Amino acid sequence: MGHYPVVMTGAPNSARGANVGALTWPDLPAHQQPPWPDSAELEQAVEQLRRLPPLVFAGECDQLMQRLASASSGQAFVLMGGDCAETFAANTADSIRARLQTLLQMAAVLTYATSMPVIKVGRLAGQYFKPRSKAIEVRDGVELTSYLGDAVNDLAFEQAARRPDAFRLVQAYHASGAALNLVRAFTQGGYADLRQVHAWNQDFVRDSAAGQRYDLIAAAIDRALAFVHACGADPVEFQRVEFYAAHEALSIDYERALTRIDSRTGLPYDVSGHFLWVGERTRQLDAAHIDFAATIRNPIGVKVGPTADADDVLALCERLNPDRVPGRLTLITRMGVGKVRDVLPGIVQKIDASGIPVVWVCDPMHGNTREAASGHKTRLFDDVIGEVEGFFAVHRDLGTFPGGIHIELTGDDVTECVGGTAGVHEDDLGQRYETACDPRLNREQSLELAFLVADMLIRHSADA
Ligand code: PEP
Ligand code: CO
Repeated sequence: MGHYPVVMTGAPNSARGANVGALTWPDLPAHQQPPWPDSAELEQAVEQLRRLPPLVFAGECDQLMQRLASASSGQAFVLMGGDCAETFAANTADSIRARLQTLLQMAAVLTYATSMPVIKVGRLAGQYFKPRSKAIEVRDGVELTSYLGDAVNDLAFEQAARRPDAFRLVQAYHASGAALNLVRAFTQGGYADLRQVHAWNQDFVRDSAAGQRYDLIAAAIDRALAFVHACGADPVEFQRVEFYAAHEALSIDYERALTRIDSRTGLPYDVSGHFLWVGERTRQLDAAHIDFAATIRNPIGVKVGPTADADDVLALCERLNPDRVPGRLTLITRMGVGKVRDVLPGIVQKIDASGIPVVWVCDPMHGNTREAASGHKTRLFDDVIGEVEGFFAVHRDLGTFPGGIHIELTGDDVTECVGGTAGVHEDDLGQRYETACDPRLNREQSLELAFLVADMLIRHSADA
């Protein structure tokens, strides 16, 4: 593993930078930061965060990096998914279980179909910050600060609710800890036992096409497990599931306060989550977010949208993975169904030619957002699938590996995205539209997507 500096150079701290043990941070422009109205409150909240224990261990982050290294060489597939914006109100056992269940079902489909390890990463236990294209939201002539995620303000369109409140950063830390605790209990305590594959489907619409197809797979997994058991193998590896937590590293104050020096290695890790990514709006090479990502030793990601220039992406790769460590850097491309086949090849070619290892992950959500006639922000299931197909086609043509998918989804039966076999129609969107930010695939749409992606992976392996 390469070396990353522990003590940063640059101007000493701004009010928001400050010391963290041996760490100092350079004073760089940070985009998309909340307009905190009270700097003393912010200082107090950050001070509290600095004293709180880590949510994840550095060793777990290293393990994820190793898993991702396999995905960079085509030996594993990454499944990332969860809410666009988690909320404190939806941080309940039922909601977390349903999201986890959806991801585990999708992973079972992908693993069974492809015989390839699936690296399971939740967009959860920390996804409480949102970048916005408009800083101000206007309704009926009333202007308020946009909703910036539950870690900053509240979704309700009221003046007091939209005031950024720094103590919400501390609340987000505690909510993340509670969610992660439950996820750890579920995945380590037998709930995620592969022998439960049927049980995960029980509360699910069995008569849906995806649910029925899933039942067939669950039966086949049962038979395979019975065979392993009959051969005398210890099925303990089936009883536990490795599951990782990821979120966008958007709030510089929050992420810096949770960056600690690992006692084993003396190196800095962001202990707010295993995997952190930098968003499309904050990936400027010389600004605070990329500097932050370059500093921490977690596996990291960068979103890459359709306006990205291949040379800029290469510069990001050189900055973020100078030692060419496999698994260190994931590029999450989100081009839109109409652009992916035109725009992605130039970028993939350039990075591939550089020899810098990356994991290529497709986010087929953020380039495919549109407004329905009803005014709801939505996405068409067919556009989502179309972008993943384009992503696979580009990687097949270039001989690179389509390493994973990154999906906004929920475990509930919401009506936020249009389409899928069971058919959420545009007119249905108002029935159960619950997202705090972007539209998510519901449970059935998510499972259907997993089947379609499994078919793409099988075809990809056959062609390779
Ligand atoms: C997101 O993942 O919710 C997001 C805002 O994505 P992007 O940075 O790609 O726009
Ligand atoms: Co989103």
